[in-house]
Amino acid sequence: MRLNSSLFCNRTVLAAALALAGLSGVAAAQSADVDSSATLAGEIAHKQRMRQLFPEQTATTQPAPQMIPQLEVDADPSGMIATFQPGGSTETASNPFFQNLGTNGRTCFTCHQPQDGWAVSAQHAKERFLADSNDPLFRLVDGATCPSADVSTPIAKAKAYSLLTDKGLIRVGLPMLSTMQFKITHVQDPYSCTTNPATGLSDPKTGIASFYRRPLPSTNLGFLSAIMWDGREPDLFHQSVDATLGHAQGNTAPSVAQQNQIVGFEGCASANNPDACAAIPPGGGLFTAQLVDAVAGSLDRQGAAGPRQPRSGSGGFLYRHQRSARAEPDRRTVRPGHLQRIRGLGQPHRRH
Ligand code: HEC
Repeated sequence: MRLNSSLFCNRTVLAAALALAGLSGVAAAQSADVDSSATLAGEIAHKQRMRQLFPEQTATTQPAPQMIPQLEVDADPSGMIATFQPGGSTETASNPFFQNLGTNGRTCFTCHQPQDGWAVSAQHAKERFLADSNDPLFRLVDGATCPSADVSTPIAKAKAYSLLTDKGLIRVGLPMLSTMQFKITHVQDPYSCTTNPATGLSDPKTGIASFYRRPLPSTNLGFLSAIMWDGREPDLFHQSVDATLGHAQGNTAPSVAQQNQIVGFEGCASANNPDACAAIPPGGGLFTAQLVDAVAGSLDRQGAAGPRQPRSGSGGFLYRHQRSARAEPDRRTVRPGHLQRIRGLGQPHRRH
């Protein structure tokens, strides 16, 4: 069925009406894996295609401090946030997390910085835009509301990047698949992205739907039970490849050695790929927590475990996402198991 353009309307909130059917048992798990890999392939192909359709000059590459110290402490809106690396400090020049592996000047550090809990806050995105609107954070592919957005004047450019500077959102364009047990029948698209066949859908089950999501913290990853908002990445190694080919619009994937260095720096989530984690020297990784609250004071006072003992297992998953919720007050806590049930639908369902 061709998508009738009258199904699309111009209200202010993007919403998709989805017709869903239930999944069950082993067949569902298998189809979830197939759908996840097809989703990832389609996502990367879309970002690479956007580079051809909407080329841009790369004026700046991402700077980084010379070193991330073993204990890094930064001020944040409610006190102090700290990151600890059990394996010691990291020289940024020799770790590909901080290297320009793509074509648009971005590195992982562009969107994952310690003062923002290894993500990006809207406040810092705005400050970066005001300091230099060519900062590599601001690239059409997924920094703008749509790769087709007008950036020809300073005012137009500020509007194009307003979701990032006002809300800290990155555009995640995900493909609709013929195997999906739903179709999109209605879209409210103030950015003319999902409704434009060049950047969006060509019919209810074909093309790209744009979702706008906060970067997740690339820290405390050893506690993860699923990767990305919708659990679509199978492991951190694969994730580092897709981030390089997608966000950084790389021509080639990072080598296995580079993937190992990136994941070694982040901390291997062994729940997702214990065999691959075995190749990573133990003792690495990033551990981040709020250290001091402006009102309550130091969070390990009076015998409290505070930031020294983040919880493990599924509790760790909650712990990480409760942390994110500090920065985004309207996000409610995810219950363990929720994600597994909706995996494979290829949609942003971590947020419930
Ligand atoms: C343009 C910004 C941007 C860049 C550059 C970027 N990321 Fe991300 N990252 C995001 C966003 C947005 C998400 C969440 C997307 C989603 O779930 O659909 C994310 C998610 C992640 C996650 C998942 C964490 C979790 O809790 O599931 C990891 C790990 C990660 N990124 C690591 C990296 C690495 C490694 C690189 C470099 C190779 C990188 N990122 C480059 C924006 C970025």
